Amino acid sequence: MSAITRRMFMMATTTLGVLAITGASAMADLPKLAQKEKYKVGFAQTESNNPWRIAQTESMKAEAEKLGYQFVYTDAAGSAAKQVADVNSMIAQGVDVIFLAPREEKPLIPAVMAAKKAGIPVILLDRTVDPSLAKPGVDYLTFIGSDFVEEGKRIAEWLIQNANGKTKIIELEGTTGSSPANDRKKGFDDAIKAAGGFEIVASQSGDFARDKGRQVAEALLQAHPDANVIYAHNDEMAMGAISAIEAAGKVPGKDILVLSIDGGKEAVQAVVDGKINAVVECNPRFGPKAYETMQRYAKGEAIEPWVINVDKFYDPSNAAAELESAY
Ligand code: AHR
Repeated sequence: MSAITRRMFMMATTTLGVLAITGASAMADLPKLAQKEKYKVGFAQTESNNPWRIAQTESMKAEAEKLGYQFVYTDAAGSAAKQVADVNSMIAQGVDVIFLAPREEKPLIPAVMAAKKAGIPVILLDRTVDPSLAKPGVDYLTFIGSDFVEEGKRIAEWLIQNANGKTKIIELEGTTGSSPANDRKKGFDDAIKAAGGFEIVASQSGDFARDKGRQVAEALLQAHPDANVIYAHNDEMAMGAISAIEAAGKVPGKDILVLSIDGGKEAVQAVVDGKINAVVECNPRFGPKAYETMQRYAKGEAIEPWVINVDKFYDPSNAAAELESAY
């Protein structure tokens, strides 16, 4: 999301902003949802290759079961084209609502629009779509998820306070064209630039995947032997980076600081072990909030354009105590 569109999106989360963007006429465009005892809900997941995705799916499924809802689940296996097809299949199956975790910002626009045309409300989970092409309160009901810019900023702030002279940064970006990759980069890079004295020596996508993250980290460590910080946009790539650092004969967490986002148990354990220095959580427990938002809409409540998830922060000061509660 660009700085301007993001600011507009943020403004829309204030009460006045809600009225501005999702005012009566805008909300009128949205497909309606009848109040029912039981719903048939669709969840179009983007991929299942990491603990974060598995925790998110588990939360959506467990909560649906608790409520006695029929749960239609698809896994796009990392393909935006398959995810569009998955949403079309849910439309054909006549689900009441579609929860969509869009892999990338632009390619999932046709899926959002197809559901709207079919009269099925869409709630975006964890990632957004391009706000210049589809809008909350108009084309889809709302976005439920973390503030990715803030996540990047929080990890940068930790580094600024704790760098101890380590200033040469390798950044491992998430999936190109996805909102968390765009926003986590922006939040981190802007804060680092404003602080001064740091240099991002390389920034490249590891596609949010462990092995890709390891391979990219290995190549970048060879190209930049003076790098002493690795900032990974998620835990999987941070774990891959740890392997790359060790393969280079260096000590992760000491010779090279490792910073991550997600906060799964394995990464929090790595903080306890001193291999990761700090992790911002990206809360994957969507189930309760997702269905509550859907029910509020069915009751006729105006829904805010962004339902924000709150994230924790782990560093050596709290990782051991928090380990048990990490997902
Ligand atoms: O959209 C959230 C990101 O997607 C998580 O950080 C990552 O692990 C996942 O695949």
